[in-house]
Amino acid sequence: MATTPRLPQELIRLKRDGQALPGEEIQAFIQGIADERISDAQIGAFSMAVFLNGMNREEVVALTTATRDSGHVMQWDSLNLPGPIVDKHSTGGVGDLVSLVLGPWVAACGAFVPMISGRGLGHTGGTLDKLESIPGYDPYPAPERFGRVVKSTGVAIIGQTGNLAPADKRIYGVRDVTATVESIPLITASILGKKLASGLDALVMDVKVGSGAFMPTAEKSRELARSIANVATQAGTPTTALLTDMSQPLARCAGNAVEIVETLALLRGERSDSRVMQVTRELAVEMLMAGKLAASREDALAKLEKALTSGAAAEVFARMVSELGGPADFMERSDHYLASAPVVQAVYPEQSGTVQRFDTRAVGMSVVELGGGRLRNDASVDHSVGFSDIAGIGEHVDNQRPLAMVHARSEDAAKRAADQLRAAITLGDTAAEADTLLQDTFRGDT
Ligand code: URA
Repeated sequence: MATTPRLPQELIRLKRDGQALPGEEIQAFIQGIADERISDAQIGAFSMAVFLNGMNREEVVALTTATRDSGHVMQWDSLNLPGPIVDKHSTGGVGDLVSLVLGPWVAACGAFVPMISGRGLGHTGGTLDKLESIPGYDPYPAPERFGRVVKSTGVAIIGQTGNLAPADKRIYGVRDVTATVESIPLITASILGKKLASGLDALVMDVKVGSGAFMPTAEKSRELARSIANVATQAGTPTTALLTDMSQPLARCAGNAVEIVETLALLRGERSDSRVMQVTRELAVEMLMAGKLAASREDALAKLEKALTSGAAAEVFARMVSELGGPADFMERSDHYLASAPVVQAVYPEQSGTVQRFDTRAVGMSVVELGGGRLRNDASVDHSVGFSDIAGIGEHVDNQRPLAMVHARSEDAAKRAADQLRAAITLGDTAAEADTLLQDTFRGDT
């Protein structure tokens, strides 16, 4: 005989008192959130109870699958895709254009990538904002068009639709105003609830560590990486999490159109050994192996090299852009289509020296203030602004080699951003080395 579910306040009491919650009751509570039977006050109290008392693995798996199943879960069977459905998610960073290169690159190797991406959040840039630098690109296609583009090109990078994990939308909104964002169980379920709703065979997660990372310490980043890999895998989607360095902007630029320009260069095979390409390559290797498109790391690397040097990866990007409404000749004439800022100036250091450290978060916030991100969530973004040619840790800068180029709307905005960039970069007289790019790998256990 089925038992009557506990009242929401009784479930909250249990967690408040440090007890583990039964999976089916977590499921009923989350469904109640999606159906609006549970109030914001109850969501807030539940989130605080989880924040303070944590959850065991089974509870987080139940919270994740309930969030995933609170709305539409994509099914790809009817499309008979001749390859695995794989995706990547990242905790976000500055100059982190990985998704834009990675999706087309692994698609060119036979994977299918239905990538649901986000807008900028806090100091981190958003893949969707970057793609919207391309005139005509439609990040919200109807589901049939999304499926068609994934099938015909292998990748479509789009935004989250209303009915994907709707419970998370409510929970996240309440967490944001109840000091309950920084909880590993809640972050795990929030990220994975949305990501697993896109019906993946395998997922690779890029968890950032360093001064531009979402998590405040290296230990917390590790804890999140471990939690995501294990919970997703136990929820039925084999997942590997890589811990990668975000102690300086990942690419040499940060903004929207400037990151699209860099993406095109990388897809053409330029700067193949840059830091951003090294991270992208590591994630791509994991995706090809998880999708059984490569038998070994060496095999995956060989396939990736071929897809880049043959132009296949660039070709997939071009097709994705045109099938989602962008110009058919975007790759050839990107200069013509991308907005450029009225003021472009070199930012010189006050004294010469070697770059020792970045406050990467501050660099991201400076891009936001230039207009490249949002100060209010209903604001629009200026695609033309940001930084390019950013010097890296260990490089010498002086009155010949600037810290970066700033792209701004006005002289005043350029000056403010230049001051912020100088303050965000520590120079010194000694040699300095960048942190290791790939710091750890967590494979999910079951
Ligand atoms: N991103 C999410 O989607 N959810 C969180 O809880 C934190 C970051």
